[in-house]
Amino acid sequence: MSELADRGIIVRMNEFWIAPSILAADFARLGEEVEAVAAGGADLIHFDVMDNHYVPALTIGPPVCERLHEHLRAREIEAPIDVHLMVKPVDSIVPEFARAGASYISFHPEASDHVDRTLQLIRDSGCKAGLVFNPATPLSWLDHLTDKVDLVLLMSVNPGFGGQKFIESTIGKLAAAREIIAGSGRDIRLEVDGGVKVDNIGRIASAGADTFVAGTAIFGTDDYAATISAMRGEIANATASAG
Ligand code: DX5
Ligand code: ZN
Repeated sequence: MSELADRGIIVRMNEFWIAPSILAADFARLGEEVEAVAAGGADLIHFDVMDNHYVPALTIGPPVCERLHEHLRAREIEAPIDVHLMVKPVDSIVPEFARAGASYISFHPEASDHVDRTLQLIRDSGCKAGLVFNPATPLSWLDHLTDKVDLVLLMSVNPGFGGQKFIESTIGKLAAAREIIAGSGRDIRLEVDGGVKVDNIGRIASAGADTFVAGTAIFGTDDYAATISAMRGEIANATASAG
């Protein structure tokens, strides 16, 4: 087993990954909530880190990630943690999240003075590296970086809050990002975050996304497994008919 596999960074069985965002979970019962979505078929646990500086809200940091990671490990639940940093500066907190059990660490390029160095730092810390694009952030940030990126995350809302409406222009941007990834010939996940729901996830998958963050659309329902399965059904229909 490689060190990455040991950290939960492996090729998952599902081609399309569902990543519930714990921002919409009941924080008073976080362990149970994460167990429930993992049992319901989640592939990743999306962990939103907000600093009241890069974005106005303030959420959770490395100690919570560490406890959650330990909680999952103790129950032999394999659900890699997908850390989405909405913080500035970025570099000082990367090793802390790596030590806290993160599998993926993604950041916004505007929040780092040296994007290439930050990506390398994430990989050197033993994690997969992701670059996050706000709705107005151009994909040209990828021009010289596809060899350093494991995940491209397109924000389909402006970052900072859950429960916002999906921004439609993300559909075209996803298609453009998918082309860049295909052209690079590299194994890079294409994730989408914000306003993803059962009724639009099919279109989002058709546009090229393979990894779907959903907060309120999952934790706002009573039966997480049923919601995740409905999402998978929509994705399967949309991608089968897209041929
Ligand atoms: C927003 C966060 C999202 C958020 C998505 O800044 O990055 O991950 O939790 O929430 P929903 O799915 O409710 O739009
Ligand atoms: Zn997020």
